[in-house]
Amino acid sequence: MQNVIEIQKDLYYLGGSDRRIKLFENHIPIPRGVSYNSYLLTDEKTVLFDTVDTAIAEQFFENLEGALGGRELDYLVVHHMEPDHSATFLRLLERYPKVTIVTNQKVAAMLKNFFPFSGENVLLVKEGDTMSVGKHTLSFIFAPMVHWPEVMMTYLPEEGILFSADAFGTFGALGGSIFADEVRFEEEFLADARKYYFNIVGKYGFQVQNVLKKASALDIRLVCPLHGPVWRENFAWYLNKYDIWSKYEPEERGVAIFYASIYGHTQNAAEILAAKLAKKGIYTKVYDVSNTHVCDLLVEAFRYSHVVFASSTHNNGIFLCMETLLSDLKAHFFQKRKYALIENGSWAPQTGALMEEMLSGMKEMQPIGETVKMISSVKGETAERLSALADAIARDFFEN
Ligand code: FEO
Repeated sequence: MQNVIEIQKDLYYLGGSDRRIKLFENHIPIPRGVSYNSYLLTDEKTVLFDTVDTAIAEQFFENLEGALGGRELDYLVVHHMEPDHSATFLRLLERYPKVTIVTNQKVAAMLKNFFPFSGENVLLVKEGDTMSVGKHTLSFIFAPMVHWPEVMMTYLPEEGILFSADAFGTFGALGGSIFADEVRFEEEFLADARKYYFNIVGKYGFQVQNVLKKASALDIRLVCPLHGPVWRENFAWYLNKYDIWSKYEPEERGVAIFYASIYGHTQNAAEILAAKLAKKGIYTKVYDVSNTHVCDLLVEAFRYSHVVFASSTHNNGIFLCMETLLSDLKAHFFQKRKYALIENGSWAPQTGALMEEMLSGMKEMQPIGETVKMISSVKGETAERLSALADAIARDFFEN
């Protein structure tokens, strides 16, 4: 049965949520699921903005049929080719063979690469192009690398509506209301949104900044992303989050301590440091990298102003889970953080130097204090080094 939600006159939400999915892109754990959004504008012409993932295909096609109410589908705007939004593309063409596909050259090429698609009935648009569909004008804004190179957005100036593709989306299934002002966004969705941002587009801060500059020139009253709630109020609050995130600035002042421990001694050092910092009044969090998914660790590292990496030496290198975290941070252009290190090893400790090598290769990273070196377990001298490190972090934390 159809479940079409009217957003406002002549604009409908046709998407749905997948609560069975475990890993987004077969990589990122999303225990709260995800929504795949699609929108229909019923003007003199009917315009569908993107399709959906196969997970909700049946619901989507029922919604589309219901919302069209017997009308033809005139246009399909494809903003982003990634299969979570285009996997039902061919099925849509089978049902609506007269539809004209409005998209850009890169999307069109990708559609041919992904599908047995001949490229017929495609209307190619360029940045800044406009087309009238009746009372509304579609104005096309390109947003390369947010999150793939072919991504574009559509702006409807008459009503200030922005179809923003992946930008301003979030993980988390929708249920009941689809509006950000009704779903307790900060409480229920902000953690999902942060995880979505850093894992999906976090690498492309420069390109996100370009999109924010374009957005600042628009009168935006309604934002329709491809995942998560629709924004019709207080969008400036969310824009500010994107501004902080895409500049790689810390969202909060605090210390995130990541430890990779084999028998618990490196953990012990991390916990002692955390307690010393907390006693000094510094907000501190501790993460076991062996038992926390790297996609979650990545987000927490970006979130805080100061980070500490504590690792055992393993196989003559960095303990693998820590190495994976540091590699993922590097891949996402982690930068602009203060960092400190704790190294452990029982006969040939060298993980400190190796972690230092990885971190110093990142942009605007500032080391704090001396690397705490420990042999096997925390003893009196290690505790003194941890105290010295806590003092150094506190000095930086409170004086800068
Ligand atoms: Fe939601 Fe980049 O796809």
